[in-house]
Amino acid sequence: MYKRSEAPHDATTTPTPVARPEGRLGVLMPGMGAVATTFIGGVLAIRRGLGKPIGSLSQMGTLSMDCAPSGRVCPIRDVVPLARLDDLVFGGWDIFDMDMYAAAVEAGVLAKPTLDSIRPDLQAIRPMPAVFDRRYVNRLDGSHTKSGRTKMDMADQVRADIQAFKADNGLARSVMIWCGSTESYSQPGPVHQTLTGFEAGLKADDPGIAPSMIYAYAAIQERLPFVNGAPNLTEEIPALQALAQHNEVPLSGKDFKTGQTMIKTVLAPAFRARLLGVAGWFSTNILGNRDGAVLDDPQALKAKEISKLSALEHILRPESFPDLYADLHHSVKINYYPPRGDNKEGWDNIDIFGWLGYPMQVKINFLCRDSILAAPLVLDVALFMDLAARSGWHGPQDWLSFYYKSPVTPAGVTAEHDLFKQLERLNARLNQAAQTVARNTEFDCNRQKRRLLK
Ligand SMILES: NC(=O)c1ccc[n+]([C@@H]2O[C@H](COP(=O)([O-])OP(=O)(O)OC[C@H]3O[C@@H](n4cnc5c(N)ncnc54)[C@H](O)[C@@H]3O)[C@@H](O)[C@H]2O)c1
Repeated sequence: MYKRSEAPHDATTTPTPVARPEGRLGVLMPGMGAVATTFIGGVLAIRRGLGKPIGSLSQMGTLSMDCAPSGRVCPIRDVVPLARLDDLVFGGWDIFDMDMYAAAVEAGVLAKPTLDSIRPDLQAIRPMPAVFDRRYVNRLDGSHTKSGRTKMDMADQVRADIQAFKADNGLARSVMIWCGSTESYSQPGPVHQTLTGFEAGLKADDPGIAPSMIYAYAAIQERLPFVNGAPNLTEEIPALQALAQHNEVPLSGKDFKTGQTMIKTVLAPAFRARLLGVAGWFSTNILGNRDGAVLDDPQALKAKEISKLSALEHILRPESFPDLYADLHHSVKINYYPPRGDNKEGWDNIDIFGWLGYPMQVKINFLCRDSILAAPLVLDVALFMDLAARSGWHGPQDWLSFYYKSPVTPAGVTAEHDLFKQLERLNARLNQAAQTVARNTEFDCNRQKRRLLK
């Protein structure tokens, strides 16, 4: 059970009332390909009772909390003040001018009969022209793009898009989630260090400013929580972190933790708990969707591979267990293989050793569906980031590390990668939000308790 004294380091010490999720919530996505269309199509289908939100903690998860009798748990969506699926409105930007029905058919994830049953709703959603720079995604080229004198002009156009989208749809609040292609690997440079330098760089068209940073800048200026679902640098740079603190906007990312890395961050803690050594971990994948085509470019691949590599060392801590993990050889490969489409296949060969150093092997073959795993994560982070904004939590939301391969943390805080520790922290924060509502508003803990006792 979560107690105030055990609050995560980033929890607010004095609980402030969480504003109720009144009105409609816009979910704006730069990048409306396989992940975005599977998320949007999935929510529309679930609203009509055509499927269940499997994989979504916000919709199917439970919490143990004070108001429940011992051993009983409350559905998260009953006790945490989250926006309802019926209140979500979808929009975004893409370099291809395709409505969401056409884009979903092209992505080839959701079955045609499902898409046909929600066709008019999907067709009503069209992407806005994108901020695009081929230097950052050189395997794609599209014409549905903005033009402007400078990158600051582009940011102003995205801000105008956000304002118009809010007005046209009568939205109370919005969040922005980068579901765009993985951008080429880059490291923070001088232009990323301060907000003043970054804004000067926007005006001077600095080549170090990626399109994803322009969207993030626009979102933070418009007070929209910003999420990065890809491994790009984006919101990690000091300039955007400073802007988010100044404007009191929550940030979270990066790179959704869906398949192979999710399994890795479950198994590695088990090996460490049992003090079994790991000599090597070889991970390889085949993937045939557009994301796979983008990742076929070595610079995009580098961003993804670095993101996928980061978890293991943090979990195994070779510096504390040199006999077990000091010589670990970790390798991650992604291969573009068109016949598989979105149905990624991942293999892991893990060379472990036990008593007296005797070697053993573990083999994993995960035949997954990339966007089917990612869509519920998009839904959860949209709702939880909206909760963060209404709760007054700003800057990097590392209680959402559960969702990312490379969690972005506040300065000086080490990322947690162990999936179950991440889940504990997420539950602690949700519990805090639920308790705060119970103490401060008309939410009736006792009524909830009576209902659960029936
Ligand atoms: N599916 C997963 O399991 C998973 C997990 C972690 C991360 N991701 C990341 O999520 C992102 C989306 O994946 P996907 O499978 O939907 O890819 P996708 O190629 O189907 O969709 C990405 C879309 O982004 C668009 N795009 C590229 N640059 C843009 C820009 N500057 N502005 C607006 N749109 C832009 C592309 O045209 C494309 O339609 C990728 O970066 C991927 O690496 C996916």
